[in-house]
Amino acid sequence: MIDKQAKELRLQYCNYGQEHVFKFWEILPSEKQVQLFQQAKNLDLDYLSKIIRNAISETPPPGKRFGSIIPAKFVRFPNSETDWQKWREAIAIGEQKIRDGKVAAFTTAGGEGTRLGCIAPKGILSATPLKKKSLFQVFAEKIKSAERNYETSIHWIIMTSERTHNETIEFFGKNNSFGVENIHFVKQGQMPAITCEGKIIMESTSRIAMHPDGHGGSLKALGKSGLLTMLENMGIEILSYFQIDNPLVRCIDPYFIGMHVKNQSQMSSRMVKKLYPDEKVGVFCESKGKIYVIEYSDLPKEQAMLKDQDGNLMFCAGNTAIHLLDVQFIKQFNGKDISSEIPYHIAQKTISTINELGDPINPQVSNGLKLEMFLFDILPFAERTIILESERASNFSPIKHLEGMDSLKTCMQDQLRLFASWLLAAAVDIPTDSNGLPPFDIEISPMFADNKHDFLKKWEKLDPKPTIAAGQYIE
Ligand code: UD1
Repeated sequence: MIDKQAKELRLQYCNYGQEHVFKFWEILPSEKQVQLFQQAKNLDLDYLSKIIRNAISETPPPGKRFGSIIPAKFVRFPNSETDWQKWREAIAIGEQKIRDGKVAAFTTAGGEGTRLGCIAPKGILSATPLKKKSLFQVFAEKIKSAERNYETSIHWIIMTSERTHNETIEFFGKNNSFGVENIHFVKQGQMPAITCEGKIIMESTSRIAMHPDGHGGSLKALGKSGLLTMLENMGIEILSYFQIDNPLVRCIDPYFIGMHVKNQSQMSSRMVKKLYPDEKVGVFCESKGKIYVIEYSDLPKEQAMLKDQDGNLMFCAGNTAIHLLDVQFIKQFNGKDISSEIPYHIAQKTISTINELGDPINPQVSNGLKLEMFLFDILPFAERTIILESERASNFSPIKHLEGMDSLKTCMQDQLRLFASWLLAAAVDIPTDSNGLPPFDIEISPMFADNKHDFLKKWEKLDPKPTIAAGQYIE
């Protein structure tokens, strides 16, 4: 049976110039033949060949794709009484949306911690200074505290990938989902790795080398899994999107939500001012009236370096990857081939493969291309969009590397600085160095407060108040 079907499949692969996928077919044991057959059958060759054609053709890189770009406009952090008045109005609107159950949280957790030197899902990483809570636990507590504060239930969608899915589910199972009741896991799709000539790369004689299709794959995954319909049926209007690597994010942020609603935005974003020209954050730009994120690797150096007359970076709006997405807005991409509008980004990678004889090889230099979609590429499709400036210290400290900038160490220090700043604002005498860092570890649970405003309100009511010293945990 499989022989006949395999013959037909091999013919199709041959027609698309990919016959090498079956090069070792005749010498594979039957269970490996079944494995390869299943994997090869699941690829949409027509779609794939179109993607490959675009990827290896002479299409200009994203930084050049838009023609001329100007820095995107953004709403500055409030600094006048009028601004604060608008801020309060926005909070009231946002709080009502949350209370009415119109907002769900959405985390992309399909990436692995390869830059951190681990192959486990990043969300499992211990990320807080004192209690060493995992990133997943931090977000869970932020969501639970919003549920409690607004007397509502909040659904949490977590996108995993083939490699992170089982371990993530197991981790939540072992930890009773950290008390969050409505969690939905959705697995993103995969793409085959290809050579620069557009040939599918084999990981072994019986397996195609696959990789996750990028966080833009969430659009397909949400639709295919039925989650989009579920959200719609539940009357959920807005997805509060954040990445797995930033424990400072306010998962459910009433101000952000209020501004999004007030401005009838379809997709909104939070930015922080870039610290230096080659900081590894995407940049919000405008071209022909549309907003784009240009990835750090794609922004031409001369533009990244441009300064205004006061010496500030012109392209300063750094992408925190914190967005709000209207469910109705993302619905328009459901079930459609969006690859011609939303390009696949190409990354050169070293990919373990096989040689002519079928023996495994681990190349030392890049030998192939990975194709990924980015969620922020749907921004130019939004009829209305708004970008809000955020205070870096209270919103953004991603964990990307093992050491140096944006590492676990810098993130824990940023958390400590933030906790200390809240205590200082409450007139608590806590020693800090010239960078605001206390000399010992403390921690404030998101269940107590996840922002200064709420912290001050709760702290005032605390009686008796704890003495702040090394090892103090406020929950
Ligand atoms: C990302 C943004 C960058 C932004 C920065 C802020 C991209 C391409 N760039 O950079 O503009 O300034 O964060 O920290 O996103 N993920 C999946 N599936 C995938 C690939 C990634 O779920 O197939 C998830 C990761 O788990 C992570 C997020 O997407 O949560 C970002 O991916 P990553 O590759 O770490 O992007 P950065 O280079 O850090």
